[in-house]
Amino acid sequence: MQILDGKALSKKIEEQVTADSKKLKQETGRVPGLAVILVGNDPASQAYVGMKKKACDRAHFYSVTHEMPEDISQDAIEKTIEMMNDNPNIDGILIQLPLPSQIDTTRLLELVAPNKDVDGFHPYNVGRLTTGLDGFVPCTPLGVMRLLEEYDIDVQGKNAVVVGASNIVGKPMASLLLNANATVEVTHIYTDDLKKHTLNADIVLVGAGVIDLITKDMVKKGAVIIDIGINRASNGKLVGDVDFENVAPKSSYITPVPGGVGPMTIAMLLSNTLKAAQSHA
Ligand code: GUN
Repeated sequence: MQILDGKALSKKIEEQVTADSKKLKQETGRVPGLAVILVGNDPASQAYVGMKKKACDRAHFYSVTHEMPEDISQDAIEKTIEMMNDNPNIDGILIQLPLPSQIDTTRLLELVAPNKDVDGFHPYNVGRLTTGLDGFVPCTPLGVMRLLEEYDIDVQGKNAVVVGASNIVGKPMASLLLNANATVEVTHIYTDDLKKHTLNADIVLVGAGVIDLITKDMVKKGAVIIDIGINRASNGKLVGDVDFENVAPKSSYITPVPGGVGPMTIAMLLSNTLKAAQSHA
């Protein structure tokens, strides 16, 4: 069993992004800029946005966070997005999700200029991903693919089972795997007998937000296990969706939580923001 070390790889990627960003500045005078919209007081969202801002600082990017109260109007957020769309110093726009219930999230995501959509959530970029065209790809599944590549784990012809069908993780994860010629199954909350599917998987990728959803009886010996869950256990520790202790010995490769997929998400956000800045230079 080998640990897929997302922390180490993300550091390496951040160093490369920082070097490429410096080069961009020397050649064009352009500094990559990220605008983040954070609504309300959700502690997890605040923590994620804090980490994204710190990563921008480490890479010498310009970043600005628009913090808005929980009861903000749709119109006010839309005006902010339009302002960021028109701001030449901003290359990437990220709306931290989830948003409060009075807000129409889809409408906001569709308002972000597709060439500043560093989260890859605009239907334009979603469409480009499913058709295998270049565009912005959501950071978490992109980070998973990068981690698999780093360890020379070839997905072509493999049975990949994605657990969780969210727009942020599961669906784009499935598209990327399919584009890389894996045989892909997407399971979700309505799937009957999850174990029947995961037992057949060469690669299990789980992002469901359920502690210990994947147990050792559910995975094939030698499977690759990618844990995309982040949950707070009752003892306060961060844990994933996989019973790591018991599943790890059965796997060939496995991501830890923390230190697996999480840091890769942040690294891919920097990488996507640099890509946007390069295209705007
Ligand atoms: N909420 C949970 N994951 C994400 C993400 O990757 N991007 C944004 N914007 N919000 C999220």
